[in-house]
Amino acid sequence: MVLETWTRVDRYIENLFSPADPVLDATLEASRQAGFPTMEVTPNQGKLLSILARSIQAKSILEIGSLGGYSTIWLGRSLAPGGKMLTLEVDPTHAAVTRANLKRAGLDGVVELKLGLALDTLPGLVEEGQGLFDLVFIDADKPRCAEYFSWALKLTHPGSLIITDNVVRNVAVSDPNNRDPNVQGVRRFNEALAAEPRVVATAVQTVGSKGYDGFAIAVVTS
Ligand code: SAH
Ligand code: DHB
Ligand code: MG
Repeated sequence: MVLETWTRVDRYIENLFSPADPVLDATLEASRQAGFPTMEVTPNQGKLLSILARSIQAKSILEIGSLGGYSTIWLGRSLAPGGKMLTLEVDPTHAAVTRANLKRAGLDGVVELKLGLALDTLPGLVEEGQGLFDLVFIDADKPRCAEYFSWALKLTHPGSLIITDNVVRNVAVSDPNNRDPNVQGVRRFNEALAAEPRVVATAVQTVGSKGYDGFAIAVVTS
């Protein structure tokens, strides 16, 4: 009943602000054909990511967790002219579908995908002197969120945004006794984010077609 209401309003907002887009629709269709779980950000959330990237004129974006490249396309399209994006993905099938979806979107020259465990790839980015990234979107396995945030801090500069998906997970996150490793991972991340002196951060609750969840949004200050 409640989800039904949220979904109806989500569709209303979507129809107004993010009307059907053949490339994004084909991206979702390819991910469903491949049997991927429905874990993409919603269209309205994709639009929010786009606005955040555009508001800082992001020229370099890092994403952790590509799935089929849906959020990747929202962010890749929002890069300032000449900008580049890197997305990290561990699953070879997800990576292959993402690459095909990026090609269809005309972003294959702009977005690079690195295949592997993000915790294996991230140290290399620091060693290579890659970055620094203007925006990092953390959206992979939840138990390691706090580790990804530590790496994001090494790979960003004052003014960068670090955005993390799925930090509410229904009401579960407010329960310190919840034993789900995803919930525990998100709680550990939220606590690390709140305690981190180098960022100003908050978490925003969201409701919509994907249920009740939220984003953490942080700006790096030093
Ligand atoms: N950002 C996407 C959704 C990502 S779903 C969107 O909104 O469209 C989470 C993705 O993270 C999955 O594709 C999963 O394979 C990937 N993932 C999980 N653990 C990972 C790890 N350790 N390293 C890199 N990617 C990982
Ligand atoms: C899950 C992961 C996500 O990134 C998401 O946006 C929704 C659900 C999950 O692991 O269930
Ligand atoms: Mg997510």
